[in-house]
Amino acid sequence: MDRSGKAVTKPFIDVLAGQRQAVPPLWMMRQAGRYLPEYRALREKAGSFLNLCFTPEHAAEVTLQPIRRFNFDAAIIFSDILVIPHALGRSVRFEAGEGPRLDPLDTPDKVATLATDADFGKLEPVHEALRRVRAELDAKIALIGFCGAPWTVATYMVAGQGTPDQAPARMMAYRHPEAFAKIIDVLVENSIQYLLGQLKAGADALQIFDTWAGVLPPREFQRWSIEPTRRIVEGVRRQVPDARIIGFPRGAAGQLPSYVEATGVNAVSIDWTADPSLIRERVQGKVAVQGNLDPLVLIAGGSALDRAIDDVLAAYGKGRLIFNLGHGIQPETPIAHVEQMVRRVREYRG
Ligand code: CP3
Repeated sequence: MDRSGKAVTKPFIDVLAGQRQAVPPLWMMRQAGRYLPEYRALREKAGSFLNLCFTPEHAAEVTLQPIRRFNFDAAIIFSDILVIPHALGRSVRFEAGEGPRLDPLDTPDKVATLATDADFGKLEPVHEALRRVRAELDAKIALIGFCGAPWTVATYMVAGQGTPDQAPARMMAYRHPEAFAKIIDVLVENSIQYLLGQLKAGADALQIFDTWAGVLPPREFQRWSIEPTRRIVEGVRRQVPDARIIGFPRGAAGQLPSYVEATGVNAVSIDWTADPSLIRERVQGKVAVQGNLDPLVLIAGGSALDRAIDDVLAAYGKGRLIFNLGHGIQPETPIAHVEQMVRRVREYRG
């Protein structure tokens, strides 16, 4: 409903609910971020990254910045996947230019000390930011809540930082599967509660980011990516049966048919390496597809960008599509190229 009580539909939600749109709804992963001068200004003012996340006024403001500029069909709440380890009492720091740093959780002894319940009071500012954004957002624009998938969050908790291939977590899962399973179980339960809180605070849909799914062999992918995601979807829907959920098992395009089948997500976000015929034939008939422009072609711009946009639309535009990047936008992306992308996608009539 809008403020006068009229029912308003959200094209983004319609696609998740099963209705293809002639003009695909559009947003960008990491759309609030360093490529925007207004983000950099507020980031500086906030001091630390976590301070930006946990000050509702600031988090709401940076969530809305890309909407004002580009009028996207969805806003994603500004936060990070590592707020869950933070609420579990792990030390989480973001060092400028270096990415996240945590105290490594890399032995069964250390895992035995892991709290089972997060302090959700620490995450209340995220919920407050969601309420503020929902109150300001146009009724046609969807608000997305999110969490990291347990596997991806665990890779940072175990290693204490990002690594090129997440070898520390993979090694721990082979050597100490019981200890590793405890980390995953704790993340599953707390992610369910966190996502339910986000729905209550005004999120219209949820995305589960499994950025590091692609480093796992099939058996491990089944156990550490698909199964925990399935449990989260089931746990959320037990309380909110019609919850709309997007999964993003990055780099695992070949395993998307089984991921979709097993998890029950309403949509999958795909990266730019996906094979269009596999996705069309075995994925898009069952769920909506979100993606999948290469973020580097958005930096390059020009005719290469036009061609790449047209390729995504030609590959998936006849089915249920949410136009997006295949991963987050990079800080060096020119704003004019984002404008070029928005214009071209909105000119399309599938
Ligand atoms: O999409 C959005 O605009 C919402 C905000 C959002 C952020 N992180 C803000 C952020 C979302 C959805 C995330 C998810 C996230 N965080 C993921 C999964 C998706 C992905 O991109 O792979 C992961 C793996 C993380 C962990 C994380 N946070 C890393 C590895 C880094 C450092 C790398 C980087 O880009 O700086 C962060 C920091 C971070 N999270 C920034 C932002 C805007 C940059 C911090 C800054 O401004 O200094």
